[in-house]
Amino acid sequence: MGIDGGDEKRTRFPCLDRVRYMVTAVVVVLTVAVAVMVITVIVHRPEDIELSILHGHIEASTLWRQSEIPFSSAPRYQFRRRRRHHHRPCDEIKPVDNDDAAGSSDISCAGESGLPSTIVTYEAAASVEFAVTLSAYNPSGRADINCTGITLRVVDMPDLARNTTGAMEVVRFPLPRGFLVRRRSSHAVRRWVRVTDARVLAYLASTYAGRTSFPATVQVNVSVALVTTVVKRTTNPKNVNHWCSVVTVGLDEPSTTADAVRCWAGEEPPYLFGSVLSAPPPAS
Ligand SMILES: *[C@@H]1O[C@H](CO)[C@@H](O)[C@H](O)[C@H]1NC(C)=O
Ligand SMILES: *[C@@H]1O[C@H](CO)[C@@H](O)[C@H](O)[C@H]1NC(C)=O
Ligand SMILES: *[C@@H]1O[C@H](CO)[C@@H](O)[C@H](O)[C@H]1NC(C)=O
Repeated sequence: MGIDGGDEKRTRFPCLDRVRYMVTAVVVVLTVAVAVMVITVIVHRPEDIELSILHGHIEASTLWRQSEIPFSSAPRYQFRRRRRHHHRPCDEIKPVDNDDAAGSSDISCAGESGLPSTIVTYEAAASVEFAVTLSAYNPSGRADINCTGITLRVVDMPDLARNTTGAMEVVRFPLPRGFLVRRRSSHAVRRWVRVTDARVLAYLASTYAGRTSFPATVQVNVSVALVTTVVKRTTNPKNVNHWCSVVTVGLDEPSTTADAVRCWAGEEPPYLFGSVLSAPPPAS
């Protein structure tokens, strides 16, 4: 009997031990799995994607249309005067080549001469095309990032130093397709977009008449989701807004050696000098 009981004990307890061991093992495996998932989500968030505008440059087909009209027709966007006659009462005044120098003195001088002449005017172009190259880099070594619902806005913010006062949306366009940015790699999309909005075209002609470039800010709204590769799993898409500043919109082709302009996540654009300078001076 005693021997039988001993046998029973010897057979029962190893069985219990096996069960205990298996339960413990399952718990440990589950804990590790959950921890790995949590760490993956914490360490690699989809919003860690690094967006930038290649070469910090947006190519523009034109910004305005130039024409010469007789002085008598009042020009809308008058910039400089070109005198056809060589009788020059004001020799010290050179023809204005610098587009930024409005030819007011030139005009008064010519007025004194009383000679017929023409004026170079800048009018709104029939349409303007812009080429933007958006680049996305995925710093994660473990997961791919699925970018969808991408919308770009090119905004002229004259007072970017402080606020969005006077901001003008030059163009807003969606990318027709999303893309997957594989781990530790980048993906670039170049897109031409045509602007025919008369209000924008008139704004460009009046603000940048005669100039070949201007600084702007690009807003990128993108929905990002992590796609883990070991066990294929996609996180819920998260909408992230980015601001890329300052980019140059210009007629030239981008310099291939120029640095990309990094985009930063945020609801509000990154004002160049922050709120410190715009804070009212302390009362004295
Ligand atoms: C990326 O997201 C789009 C839209 O939700 C989906 O159709 C596509 O299959 C996703 N790609 C991957 C690789 O998960
Ligand atoms: C933006 O800044 C300008 C110049 O400092 C100021 O005149 C204007 O009131 C500001 N606008 C807003 C909405 O804060
Ligand atoms: C970004 O896009 C989403 C979806 O279209 C929209 O709900 C959200 O308001 C947009 N955010 C900004 C800042 O434009």
